[in-house]
Amino acid sequence: MWKYAAVAAASRAFSLNSSTRWVYRRLGNVALTRMRVADGLPERYVDRARRLLAACETNRILRPGDAVLELGTGWVHWEALVLRLFHDVEITLYDVWDNRLFTAFRCYADQLDDHLDDLGEELGFDPARVRTAHERLGAARSARTFDELYDTLGMRYVVEPSGMLEELPESHYALVVSADVLEHVDAATLPAYLARTTALLRPGGWSLHQIDLVDHFHYFDPSCSPKHFYRYDTATWRRRWDSSVQYVNRVQRPEWLDLFEAAGLQLRREERVSEPMGDVPLAGAFRGLAQEDVDCLQTILLHRRPEPAVPHQGTSTENPAAATIAPASRH
Ligand SMILES: C[S@@+](CC[C@H](N)C(=O)[O-])C[C@H]1O[C@@H](n2cnc3c(N)ncnc32)[C@H](O)[C@@H]1O
Repeated sequence: MWKYAAVAAASRAFSLNSSTRWVYRRLGNVALTRMRVADGLPERYVDRARRLLAACETNRILRPGDAVLELGTGWVHWEALVLRLFHDVEITLYDVWDNRLFTAFRCYADQLDDHLDDLGEELGFDPARVRTAHERLGAARSARTFDELYDTLGMRYVVEPSGMLEELPESHYALVVSADVLEHVDAATLPAYLARTTALLRPGGWSLHQIDLVDHFHYFDPSCSPKHFYRYDTATWRRRWDSSVQYVNRVQRPEWLDLFEAAGLQLRREERVSEPMGDVPLAGAFRGLAQEDVDCLQTILLHRRPEPAVPHQGTSTENPAAATIAPASRH
């Protein structure tokens, strides 16, 4: 528990003002680059690639020329990179601050090359398509800067500190995708944020989000439960543990499902990663959770923006039960 408390205290100290936050981000990025390069491409990133490509394939989400938006693109633009290797799409990379790590990107891109053949085989891709992916990855790996990478792959990087997706065109994107991002969006803004992502999708467009429901201090102190934060009510959490540099909104699965529905999206598929949490104490806000939701550590949600009903055209040929996301491992 002391590590949990120490990381939370340091996070609160770094959250004090814009200068301390700047220092935190600078130091964090140096440390993260070292760690990511030393550890290499994590298996969970390869799983994410597999799941994303499988979802796009099974549900025929993308056509050539489509636009894709990656939210919280982070250090290495992972989802965008993987998609662009296999699809002729234009990608907008969105974040609230510039936390890109070019050395880590190069490391992951180099190691991704070793996985392309297996991914192609598992997903039943034509060998020519896999060859094209290798060629595109080769071009990406020879970029010397992120700007060269964007020119090569047709990507655009947008940083918007408000984080409210204001500068992006409406009814434009075929797919909005993110991994380990939505749990960091301010809880108070989530209804507006998800309504905005719905508006950015073209009718019939898809939304695929991996949401990490774990107490993130657990990653620094695995001796604490992955759901240690359940024991704190909102006021105590804010007073003792919460910080802007390590913010997580603690929104749990049923609330996510309600938020997406209220934003006007239709659930097409959910994959969950769960572990029995035993009798972890639940503060008021969490007491109403069903046991399966208490135990849920990660949810991967595939939604669709409905298309306007076309009168007198008969029933849709689309089978909702066919929407699929391949299983993935936890963050
Ligand atoms: C845990 S990181 C994940 C980065 C990346 N998706 C990955 O897995 O490699 C969370 C990311 O979400 C971004 N973020 C936070 N609030 C956001 C918002 N309102 N809209 C978009 N991104 C946001 C952060 O800046 C950060 O890049």
